[in-house]
Amino acid sequence: MSANDFSDRVRGPRIDLTTGLSADDDVLVVGLIAPADDDTDATLLLVDDLLGDEPAEQISLALKALGAGGSRGEITRLPAPASLPVDVVLAVGLGAAADLDDPEVVRQASGEAIRALDGSPRVVSTLSAAGLAAAAEGAFLGAYRYDELRTEKSRSSKQPPATVLLAVAEKSKQARAELDHALVVADSVAIARDFVNTPPNLLYPAEFAERARVLGSKAGLRVEILDDVELAKAGYGGIVGVGQGSSRKPRLVRLTHEAKGADRTVALVGKGITFDTGGISIKPAAGMEHMTSDMGGAAAVIASVIAAARLDVPVTVIATVPMAENMPSSTAQRPGDVLTQYGGTTVEVLNTDAEGRLILADAIVRACEDEPDFLIDTATLTGAQMVALGTRTPGVLGTEDFRDRVAAISQSVGENGWPMPMPTELRSDLNSRVADLANVTNHRWGGMLSAAMFLREFVTEGLDWVHIDVAGPAFNTGGPWGYTGKGGTGVPVRTIVAVIEDIAGQGRPTP
Ligand code: BES
Ligand code: MN
Ligand code: ZN
Repeated sequence: MSANDFSDRVRGPRIDLTTGLSADDDVLVVGLIAPADDDTDATLLLVDDLLGDEPAEQISLALKALGAGGSRGEITRLPAPASLPVDVVLAVGLGAAADLDDPEVVRQASGEAIRALDGSPRVVSTLSAAGLAAAAEGAFLGAYRYDELRTEKSRSSKQPPATVLLAVAEKSKQARAELDHALVVADSVAIARDFVNTPPNLLYPAEFAERARVLGSKAGLRVEILDDVELAKAGYGGIVGVGQGSSRKPRLVRLTHEAKGADRTVALVGKGITFDTGGISIKPAAGMEHMTSDMGGAAAVIASVIAAARLDVPVTVIATVPMAENMPSSTAQRPGDVLTQYGGTTVEVLNTDAEGRLILADAIVRACEDEPDFLIDTATLTGAQMVALGTRTPGVLGTEDFRDRVAAISQSVGENGWPMPMPTELRSDLNSRVADLANVTNHRWGGMLSAAMFLREFVTEGLDWVHIDVAGPAFNTGGPWGYTGKGGTGVPVRTIVAVIEDIAGQGRPTP
């Protein structure tokens, strides 16, 4: 069975390989490479023998006449030459030839092209000539939609392509394997996007845990769920404290991919706040609806451990996922409360809106009990991440070597995580008047860094640990771009999966 045939993958277009055009095809997508200097023309990126020289020449001339220059993201449509079986040719600019070394250029162009194509059922793309995996991921993610909640009244008659065929010179075993891998990764990104896009009234901790159980079991994971009573009994004071203001009780989900004969274990932890009002330290109304995305870290680690199972990665991966809703009420925790985290550390809650670190601290201590070789946590943790790095660049913090390795891998997969420091002088700002730690500093400087330093207090000494802050990158509040639509983005699933594969020694060198 090819990975593309997953019976439980219902999302997205069918993506397959082709060596030729057929009468059923509607649109041909071609890449257009910008000229190196003013004296030459843009060049078509083609797959040998797919079109024949004459139609290729006709397309080139037509694009030139239309003024298409091949700059990145430029979309040009033209009627197909009569000798081709397709109706329309859609050219997408790729920028300069030298930039094609970066698969992200191809991934984005492929996404742009598919997004421009609503309404054409069957598409053949030659972008595979610049990178098969990138073209496949870009097409799949560019076609992603979340319309579960639309009725006929608002459902667009336009639909993304049902079939995308990637042109190759030969349907080799290697091409098939590369495509299957890309589609498992892209599908995992879509799983994370679906979770993030599901509104907070429909996705509350118990429901989130149940959906994780269903998906995890299908993928062959071992699933364990602790409910609110079990959490209180076992001493998960952070998860209980944050969750106690809501009638919708917290959960802790554990998903295990046990690889036979594996000699490494990777622990994953993700923040699962299904809605963050701020609690008693309530947030302003403007933009509060974005806090539906405050479980983006949890969504990413659930999707990543599922990907590890589907890809049969030879390392054990254990995801520990705390889930709670942060609400103000008469049962909510107060600023000034002191709670006892799992493992015994006491924390003074100076600000109930710094709740992510409280649930993560419990989960990190639990994850460390498994004695993993690596710990990766990810969270929509701080607004300060966006102040420092903008909305598309994850902040990467942790033990230095592992931090730099994860940031480099994140850049290679196009998620662009950037290494950040944990300056020693900030540590004392987390000291509390009454408890072991305070959950916030008494100033706003370096908020992403001090949040990571709070988490560090709960990580086993000497363990390779990385924290990825995706407050901005997990949720696109702007317009669509590349292969990213509005809403959930699925960041940092591709980073985490690539890191797990790298640890397994089967990292894919970028083509
Ligand atoms: N979930 C927020 C962080 C966030 C903000 C994510 C904007 C995505 C977009 C987090 O729980 C939070 O409220 N953080 C506070 C921390 C502060 C109280 C120290 C923040 O960033 O303001
Ligand atoms: Mn908050
Ligand atoms: Zn939050």
